[in-house]
Amino acid sequence: MSDVETRTSSIEGLGLFATRPFSAGQRIRRINVLREVTPTSPLREELGERADHCDYPNGKVVLLGYPDRHVNHSCDPNAYVLYEGGCSFLMARRDIAAGEEITCDYNINITGGTAWPCHCGAARCRGTTVGDFFLLPLDIQREYLPLLAEWFVRAHRDRLRALGLA
Ligand SMILES: C[S@@+](CC[C@H](N)C(=O)[O-])C[C@H]1O[C@@H](n2cnc3c(N)ncnc32)[C@H](O)[C@@H]1O
Ligand SMILES: [Zn+2]
Repeated sequence: MSDVETRTSSIEGLGLFATRPFSAGQRIRRINVLREVTPTSPLREELGERADHCDYPNGKVVLLGYPDRHVNHSCDPNAYVLYEGGCSFLMARRDIAAGEEITCDYNINITGGTAWPCHCGAARCRGTTVGDFFLLPLDIQREYLPLLAEWFVRAHRDRLRALGLA
């Protein structure tokens, strides 16, 4: 039996849900990456491929497959993405109960993304996803430091240092 399932989410559209409990720090699953999106292999919108089903690891654009493309954003996420050896994994950030929606904060490991209204419903919802780690409140940037990918820290070390974050 699978450890996760997709179903309608109170946040938006479909979401990814745990079908069993996970402990903080536990690997939930390896993220299903379909392919890299490049100028010669662009998104095929006619086949339902969507820009908001992409991830942006280390300067690349990759199209996520089922079911990971359905992870919604939360301003108080219970999961995060770990990049390791060319793969990515969904990790529990805190204990997750069976039936709980698995969420990530889309503002981690990204700069220059788009902002849009957030309906995550978390007590600390910021009302908008800013699409840029450095536009998060400083206390949240500090909280997310342990979740940053090595490639993101390497690319932004000077900015992180200037903020006293690295
Ligand atoms: C990776 S998809 C997430 C899965 C999506 N719910 C679905 O049905 O495919 C990202 C899109 O979901 C929506 N979304 C995710 N989290 C959201 C949130 N906290 N508030 C509002 N919309 C959200 C946005 O439209 C975003 O572009
Ligand atoms: Zn929110």
